[in-house]
Amino acid sequence: MRVLIFGPSGQVGHELAANAGKLGEIVTAGRSDADIIMDPLNKDSLEQLFRDVQPNIVINAIAYTAVDKAESDQEQAFLLNSDLPGALADQCEIRDCLLIHYSTDFVFDGTKRKPWSESDDTHPLSVYGSSKLAGEKAIEISACHYFILRTSWVYGERGGNFLLTMLRLGREREALSVVNDQIGSPTTSHDIANATISLCEQYIENPETVKAHKGIYHLTSSGSVSWYGFAKSIFESAANHELLLIKDLSAISSSEYPTVASRPANSVLNCEKLARRFNIKMPNWKDSLEQCIRRLYKSLPPN
Ligand SMILES: NC(=O)c1ccc[n+]([C@@H]2O[C@H](COP(=O)([O-])OP(=O)(O)OC[C@H]3O[C@@H](n4cnc5c(N)ncnc54)[C@H](OP(=O)(O)O)[C@@H]3O)[C@@H](O)[C@H]2O)c1
Repeated sequence: MRVLIFGPSGQVGHELAANAGKLGEIVTAGRSDADIIMDPLNKDSLEQLFRDVQPNIVINAIAYTAVDKAESDQEQAFLLNSDLPGALADQCEIRDCLLIHYSTDFVFDGTKRKPWSESDDTHPLSVYGSSKLAGEKAIEISACHYFILRTSWVYGERGGNFLLTMLRLGREREALSVVNDQIGSPTTSHDIANATISLCEQYIENPETVKAHKGIYHLTSSGSVSWYGFAKSIFESAANHELLLIKDLSAISSSEYPTVASRPANSVLNCEKLARRFNIKMPNWKDSLEQCIRRLYKSLPPN
């Protein structure tokens, strides 16, 4: 079994590359393969890569994830989030290879009062959300066997993410305000990689059954919280490991913290379909946070 992972330097891609070895031979393609990634419409070079690697499973963890920057960098966002997955789907179709791709809660407008299901209407509020939705559609119109895993609020021990930003600010400042009216499910790159690997194992075991259930699935931690609540839990949990400067954490509304791109108010995704079809059940966000913080401090050099 040969697994080709795109984007091994990202939060999710790194966890995949580090943990997917049990699936078989792992080959990665990232920024150094610039001619392929930067010009996904250059079919020759992508075709050459697929011919060389002969993958059975392709996992695409490359994305343009700078949500605010995407508002003024539409072309690049669509190139990476739509054209590239579309070109990967074409190659996977030709070679009868499974494609696993990640998408986002940002395909929704956040107005629903309950968790979003896979069948709910999409309505992105941002260029990033629109480009990710276009990527979903580019894969869906191909005839390849695909899984699009929509996840949310991704963080981990490395990369640019909310956990690491809060810990830095918590060391630098005594007071901090965090948005309290956007609700979601923080999800670790570690848990996303584990769930993806479990899906691949089921595919290897029983390819035809798994292929029959191709489609879009929601994949996030269970439970939900606001950014403010998440920050509060981060500081409480980190206090068991280090003395932070932060004393005063206050809740504010999104209107008090304007951003270039609009974000959905309710980002919570219903993940029952994945649990029902593949028995993949994600941990509660708070348990995952504890574990992530434990891994993080374990990896840090002692003071
Ligand atoms: N982050 C979130 O909160 C979030 C939320 C919902 C869904 N998602 C989705 O989850 C998936 C994984 O996200 P993530 O947080 O792991 O993303 P990430 O940490 O931002 O990683 C993105 C990856 O894409 C690569 N990349 C970006 N621009 C590139 C370019 N021009 N050429 C080649 N490679 C390029 C990066 O390479 P470099 O390291 O070299 O830049 C990196 O490997 C994505 O599909 C994302 O849309 C993420």
